[in-house]
Amino acid sequence: MRVLSSLFALALFATASAVPARQSSHRAVLESRHHLPAGWTKRGGLNKRGEVPVRINLRQNNLERSEELLMDVSDPESPNYGKHYTAKQVADLFAPSKESVETVKGWLREASVASHRVKYNHGQGSVTLNMTVAELEELLHAEYDIYEHDTGALHVACESYSVPATVKHHVDFITPTLHFNVPLSKRDENAHSGASKAALIGQPGHSAVQPHQGAAVESIFTDLRNCSKQTTLDCLRALYKIDYEPVVKDKNSYGIVEYTPQAYVPSDLDLFFKNFSRGTIGYRPKLVSFDGGVVQNNQTGFDFNVESNLDLQYAIGLVHPAPVTLYQVGDLVEGASFNNFLDGIDSSYCGGDDPNLDGIYPDPSNATGSYKGPEDCGTAKPTYVISISYSINEAETTPAYEERQCNEYMKLGMQGVTVFYSSGDHGVAGRRGYCIDPVTGAFSPNGTRFTPSFPSTCPWVTSVGATQINPNSTVFDPEGACEQFIYSGGGFSDVFPMPEYQKTAVAKYFKDYNPPYTAKQYNNSQMTRGFPDISANGANYVTAIDGNFSLVYGTSASSPVAGSIFTLINDARLALGLRPIGFINPVLYKNAWALNDITMGGNQGCGTPGFTAVPGWDPVTGLGTPNFEKLRDLFLTLLFSA
Ligand SMILES: *[C@@H]1O[C@H](CO)[C@@H](O)[C@H](O)[C@H]1NC(C)=O
Ligand SMILES: *[C@@H]1O[C@H](CO)[C@@H](O)[C@H](O)[C@H]1NC(C)=O
Ligand SMILES: *[C@@H]1O[C@H](CO)[C@@H](O)[C@H](O)[C@H]1NC(C)=O
Ligand SMILES: *[C@@H]1O[C@H](CO)[C@@H](O)[C@H](O)[C@H]1NC(C)=O
Ligand SMILES: *[C@@H]1O[C@H](CO)[C@@H](O)[C@H](O)[C@H]1NC(C)=O
Ligand SMILES: *[C@@H]1O[C@H](CO)[C@@H](O)[C@H](O)[C@H]1NC(C)=O
Ligand SMILES: *[C@@H]1O[C@H](CO)[C@@H](O)[C@H](O)[C@H]1NC(C)=O
Ligand SMILES: *[C@@H]1O[C@H](CO)[C@@H](O)[C@H](O)[C@H]1NC(C)=O
Ligand SMILES: *[C@@H]1O[C@H](CO)[C@@H](O)[C@H](O)[C@H]1NC(C)=O
Repeated sequence: MRVLSSLFALALFATASAVPARQSSHRAVLESRHHLPAGWTKRGGLNKRGEVPVRINLRQNNLERSEELLMDVSDPESPNYGKHYTAKQVADLFAPSKESVETVKGWLREASVASHRVKYNHGQGSVTLNMTVAELEELLHAEYDIYEHDTGALHVACESYSVPATVKHHVDFITPTLHFNVPLSKRDENAHSGASKAALIGQPGHSAVQPHQGAAVESIFTDLRNCSKQTTLDCLRALYKIDYEPVVKDKNSYGIVEYTPQAYVPSDLDLFFKNFSRGTIGYRPKLVSFDGGVVQNNQTGFDFNVESNLDLQYAIGLVHPAPVTLYQVGDLVEGASFNNFLDGIDSSYCGGDDPNLDGIYPDPSNATGSYKGPEDCGTAKPTYVISISYSINEAETTPAYEERQCNEYMKLGMQGVTVFYSSGDHGVAGRRGYCIDPVTGAFSPNGTRFTPSFPSTCPWVTSVGATQINPNSTVFDPEGACEQFIYSGGGFSDVFPMPEYQKTAVAKYFKDYNPPYTAKQYNNSQMTRGFPDISANGANYVTAIDGNFSLVYGTSASSPVAGSIFTLINDARLALGLRPIGFINPVLYKNAWALNDITMGGNQGCGTPGFTAVPGWDPVTGLGTPNFEKLRDLFLTLLFSA
């Protein structure tokens, strides 16, 4: 960034300017921090005449109507069911109000900033301008300085800033302020102690969803009686009553998201297809690369290949000939976060990322493999169904960060997009089996408070937990919650309120099966979002990895399998000229009969047995596993046409 580097170049010659006189009346602090993030020290010597690019992110309009607007097109009893919005209609509906734009412009005018310097970006809901540091200090009543990271990286920041009280309600946040925008190194060990850069989710061990590798597969069982030992495409078809040949093909779309350096191995896809899906030998997903996303095959091994191989082998195997898109997100150096993916499919979401947590593009690093192209912003359209087998712990970022992202899933639902997230693989615990220290709130190996996973706790995604065919049972017997190597993520959010659509089901759960834990262990107010919503098999998946077959376990498998089943339901609807299913939770909670209720097993973690799968909805397996035949019939009765 040119402006910033000239700022540093002049730093040595700067004389500290006097702190401007402050009128403290009618100001409201927008953000402040009590201590610096680890690894940073204040260096001093900032040239206050240097210019910085300033971005004022305006508050979006109509957000308080989110639930109402989404339910209007997703509730099967609404007269507007299926009447999804276009991307532009959604962007306009939530664009900041004229009042917000005018208030901020008026504030800048009063601060003697010439109006030709100020640019309003309608699509992104922000106001941008270049200002000298001295001007910015005056505007925000803040003191800026240079901060240095242990790596030598420099950053201009302040520790607190305020705006006039009349402006506060029109602005979300302003940069540069407290947000340190120098990426941590890609294997930053800080991530292990608690706060983790969300952009690291592609690095082995950073997602709360982590497929477990089991035994090598010596020989593949072909008899359905053996599905409790090995899960194959045919086992899933038998379990979930999938007997369906897609008909609309290219009109349909199914997207799988992977975060670099996670990558699929082409020869592994074919090894899998040769044994299980001969019609797809040679088939490759359509690659959509965001922010330098590459299918790297330089680093191989289970930790780099299992997620992508598993997702794509099963998704392609189940939905072919419906096309599968691979969204490969982030470069080899910095990786990417959920927000970088969302930027890629929605230009109106770009611009509000948090540089502390999200990937920054063009990548400021000069290391080999850093992506120097522009940030992807609305580059590709979202597919009708999207499956994402990565997650973070709610406790690892801030509620504001999660709420902004959750609103984006609401907007995708309004456009008819169905988003599946795996619910986590550690039961009621988080990544690495850690839980929250109830006193400090830190994520710790000694923690005891349950650790909900995000984005599963966002009410506007469909969260998928894991089941298993119990030992010595068959595909014709009821499944139980997965209790082999991994435990289905589930519980109650510490951030998001309970959505209307699940209130009846969750109230019944608490009434009939009140769990034996206290408010110290989880939010038991019965007022927060419960997850997962549904579940699907997550045990013993026969998966081709680096030239051999192994058994794999995880909600990593459950999410793409659920996504595949609902992609086939979209096929049936599209064939009749109907709209895709969009946000499905309101339909499912009103029609639990179309799912197989799971009533065995639990999701241990944090030194407890966790929650227990019981009749009806539960925070282990949700409403249950899909029954394709029943779900197809159900969704075909919801007759809104395109
Ligand atoms: C700020 O300055 C840079 C050049 O240094 C320019 O590219 C950019 O358009 C300016 N931004 C605004 C909002 O004027
Ligand atoms: C996969 O199929 C091939 C023949 O197509 C067979 O030789 C091989 O043994 C099978 N793999 C396993 C693990 O059964
Ligand atoms: C099923 O598994 C048993 C071992 O548990 C094996 O002996 C048998 O051959 C398998 N059957 C088929 C058809 O794969
Ligand atoms: C893989 O490594 C080779 C040789 O070091 C390098 O030229 C290439 O750019 C790398 N590719 C990727 C995708 O990392
Ligand atoms: C990358 O290279 C440019 C040009 O050589 C240099 O100005 C910049 O400081 C380098 N950035 C880092 C993070 O090393
Ligand atoms: C966890 O507890 C052990 C034993 O009491 C202690 O040695 C360790 O420092 C604790 N670790 C953390 C991160 O609190
Ligand atoms: C499954 O069946 C085998 C053989 O009949 C028996 O040895 C084993 O104990 C059974 N396992 C369970 C969990 O019931
Ligand atoms: C639990 O959630 C409710 C509703 O959001 C909230 O009022 C309450 O403070 C939360 N309890 C705890 C212990 O965080
Ligand atoms: C596959 O497994 C066999 C036998 O376990 C082993 O000899 C071979 O090296 C493995 N192949 C690869 C590519 O790892």
